[in-house]
Amino acid sequence: MEDQYQREIDYIRISVTDRCNFRCRYCMPEEGTALFPHSEIMTYEEILRFMKIAVRTGIKKVKITGGEPLVRKGVCGLIKEIREISGMEAVTLTTNGFLLGKYLPELKKTGVSGINISLDTLQPERFRKLTGKDAFFQVRDGIRNALLSDIPVKINCVPMKGFNEDELPAIAALAKKYPVAVRFIEMMPVGLGKACTGVSQEEITKILEMKYGSMELDGDVSGNGPAVYYRLEGFRGRVGFISAVSHSFCENCNRIRLTADGLLKPCLSYEGRINIKEAMRRGMDDAEIEKKLRDSIYAKPRCHGFAGKMKEGTPEKRKMAG
Ligand code: GTP
Ligand code: 5AD
Ligand code: SF4
Repeated sequence: MEDQYQREIDYIRISVTDRCNFRCRYCMPEEGTALFPHSEIMTYEEILRFMKIAVRTGIKKVKITGGEPLVRKGVCGLIKEIREISGMEAVTLTTNGFLLGKYLPELKKTGVSGINISLDTLQPERFRKLTGKDAFFQVRDGIRNALLSDIPVKINCVPMKGFNEDELPAIAALAKKYPVAVRFIEMMPVGLGKACTGVSQEEITKILEMKYGSMELDGDVSGNGPAVYYRLEGFRGRVGFISAVSHSFCENCNRIRLTADGLLKPCLSYEGRINIKEAMRRGMDDAEIEKKLRDSIYAKPRCHGFAGKMKEGTPEKRKMAG
């Protein structure tokens, strides 16, 4: 269905857990965060029930995220069941890659439509410093195996001033070697990201063009997701940018979110107000939940408030992983 600004909302990001096996410095504090008790997390039955309702409002693409979604037991089963809902067109997963080696065979069987994997550095020691885990080689192998499978893969890299700027050409080169999309993500002022400095899209473009020649815009800027893609001479894949603050894509936003504890969030930067899990546990029927979802989609804010003015609601205080 359309929201009040005539945007077609057909995509939901579902966080299945707030837990993560990494501690990326722009996301999770080293000591971890207060985690939701299990009873506060939506059960798979509740998520599935909600998705069967959501599909009736026109939601047909689902992103499974976290925290790290693969740390929650049984997530492959959930993907498969959502995939099987009539009218569902795509179910994709965003992961840090650590558990891909273990779960890739099972993931293939779920019919997952795509996997996005984070990779901020190619240097094992930097990887350990950034994520708190000595896991570069395990993630690299996971990415390799995913690239060799039939599942479409995207790589997410968050460039950070003075940390991995020097590696951006090498990371982009994965798209030279493989038919993969490598996306550079602008640091978002969410959670610990507020204290980190990213690298602008313009600076990254300059760095890449110096090494690889001019970058040609590929497709419509408005696209159907937050990324804008470019083609480079001799590359099999594409390089993309997701710059939520400096090149806001709110005008074309197609999505809503469901947090691990059941909050429905029409926009990333504002606190969610409707708790689907609690509504279900209070005994609300499907029609009433559908009405809550439709009202929430309709009232989706025009834009995020990262630029300073939080006019359309209460600013979100949680980290990205929720
Ligand atoms: P697909 O292209 O459909 O695979 O999804 P995606 O690129 O939206 O998903 P992914 O989980 O890989 O997210 C990449 C980056 O985009 C992350 O940093 C997300 O937080 C950011 N992102 C995704 N959706 C939104 C959004 O609605 N608003 C903002 N500001 N950022 C978003
Ligand atoms: N700013 C930008 N990207 C972030 N991610 C997590 N926190 C932030 C932030 N504050 C990225 C991760 C992952 C994706 C899902 O979101 O690196 O690739
Ligand atoms: Fe975990 Fe992703 Fe946050 Fe890193 S960015 S700590 S992998 S949820």
